[in-house]
Amino acid sequence: MALLEITNVDISYGKRLIVKNCNLTLEKAEICSIVGESGSGKTTVIRAVLDLLAGGGRVTAGDIVYEGRSLLTLDDKEWRALRGHDISMIFQDSGAMMNQTRLIGKTYVEYIRTHENISKKEAWAKGAEMLGRMRLPDPDRIMRSYPFQLSGGQRQRVGIAMGMTYQPRLLLADEPTSALDVTTQAQIVRQMMELRDEYGTSIIIVTHDLGVATYMADKVVVMKDGEIEEQGDRSYMLHESTNAYTKKLLDAVPSLGGKRYV
Ligand SMILES: Nc1ncnc2c1ncn2[C@@H]1O[C@H](COP(=O)(O)OP(=O)(O)OP(=O)(O)O)[C@@H](O)[C@H]1O
Ligand SMILES: [Mg+2]
Repeated sequence: MALLEITNVDISYGKRLIVKNCNLTLEKAEICSIVGESGSGKTTVIRAVLDLLAGGGRVTAGDIVYEGRSLLTLDDKEWRALRGHDISMIFQDSGAMMNQTRLIGKTYVEYIRTHENISKKEAWAKGAEMLGRMRLPDPDRIMRSYPFQLSGGQRQRVGIAMGMTYQPRLLLADEPTSALDVTTQAQIVRQMMELRDEYGTSIIIVTHDLGVATYMADKVVVMKDGEIEEQGDRSYMLHESTNAYTKKLLDAVPSLGGKRYV
């Protein structure tokens, strides 16, 4: 059984049908990149998986099935158990999602304690350990900081550490590295891939960076105007596809091919 199966899904904001007939299957430990021009519906698709559509967005047809269970019928309690634990999301600017008036550590401890019945002290230690694993120097200082006291890259790594705390079975990443410098970007790409290698985490990464997309992915999905234009394994999409749009989009890759991530 696939880990995630999106079948014939339509998504609308209000009366506007945005995503049409989306079909996407993700196996355990598989990494899938979604690429496509701005406004093609990439964010909409991955937000729909976590039931986090903004602006009155909703799935109006089809089904999203995770480990044999439809995600479209979960109640709040079931979502609280799943979201941030089995399925996590990393946003483009995780820092902006955090409460700016609360210490990172306080936010982190609260997050951990919604998933685990442990003391605040234990939760603090666990959070600091995760920050250390994201190679954030001096994790205790970071825990005692407010989001605005950190650099953009540090904040993003905090967000990624949080998203990885429970070694999610499914990680949804929306442009996780676009706000970061190339070195930090490479580190984070590596860390996501390690998560897959060590824990069998499946990943969907939305990115404008075709170098990152094709470097990480087992499978590449190309979106255009709310529809999946084409999908296939990386090698097929890069070298064998005859789809004009795919070719135009991925033709840009060889020039980025020299960029190293490991
Ligand atoms: N909250 C919202 N309310 C109404 N329409 C929205 C909302 N969010 C997105 N849309 C519309 O849905 C379409 C797809 O947007 P989406 O954010 O999924 O695209 P995207 O592929 O992620 O683009 P980008 O690469 O710029 O992030 C766009 O036409 C956008 O205007
Ligand atoms: Mg987007």
